[in-house]
Amino acid sequence: MIEYTDTSDAITPGMLQGFFVGWKRPHDPETHLKILANSGVKIVAVDPDEHRVVGFAVALTDHVQQAFIYLLEVLPEYQNQGIGTGLMRRILEKLRGIPCIDLTCYPALQPFYSRFGMQPSVGMVIRDY
Ligand SMILES: CC(C)(COP(=O)(O)OP(=O)(O)OC[C@H]1O[C@@H](n2cnc3c(N)ncnc32)[C@H](O)[C@@H]1OP(=O)(O)O)[C@@H](O)C(=O)NCCC(=O)NCCS
Repeated sequence: MIEYTDTSDAITPGMLQGFFVGWKRPHDPETHLKILANSGVKIVAVDPDEHRVVGFAVALTDHVQQAFIYLLEVLPEYQNQGIGTGLMRRILEKLRGIPCIDLTCYPALQPFYSRFGMQPSVGMVIRDY
């Protein structure tokens, strides 16, 4: 049974293997842990039998007006088991009451996010890799 936590206190770099699939410059586990620790709002999915993190979602927020969910990922071998949905439900619950919640995604993922009441929008970004 997958367990969800809203802190990274018990997470070690060794539990963070295999993430940032397809990234040009994937973060190493130490940096990944720093991202989790520094993110104001986070949900981490852990497989306790394997003692590994299998998915995570992170958000930044001012706790008043705006929140930005900026990373959501589930390890490939754990996808399509409802974990991404579990992470989204829980992070949106943590952000409840904030009127503007943004994220960026490819069009193919819009049906997934629309399940949580999100609607398509347009935006501008800098991607300085
Ligand atoms: C997107 C992601 C987090 C979903 O996690 P998950 O645990 O597989 O999600 P769930 O099992 O709760 O839901 C799966 C649903 O999402 C859909 N989905 C997942 N990835 C998709 C993709 N790349 N394109 C379109 N739909 C996708 C599946 O088709 C499935 O739909 P269904 O329920 O109608 O069969 C996961 O696929 C992932 O980590 N992908 C790589 C990283 C990524 O794209 N993150 C999002 C950045 S915006």
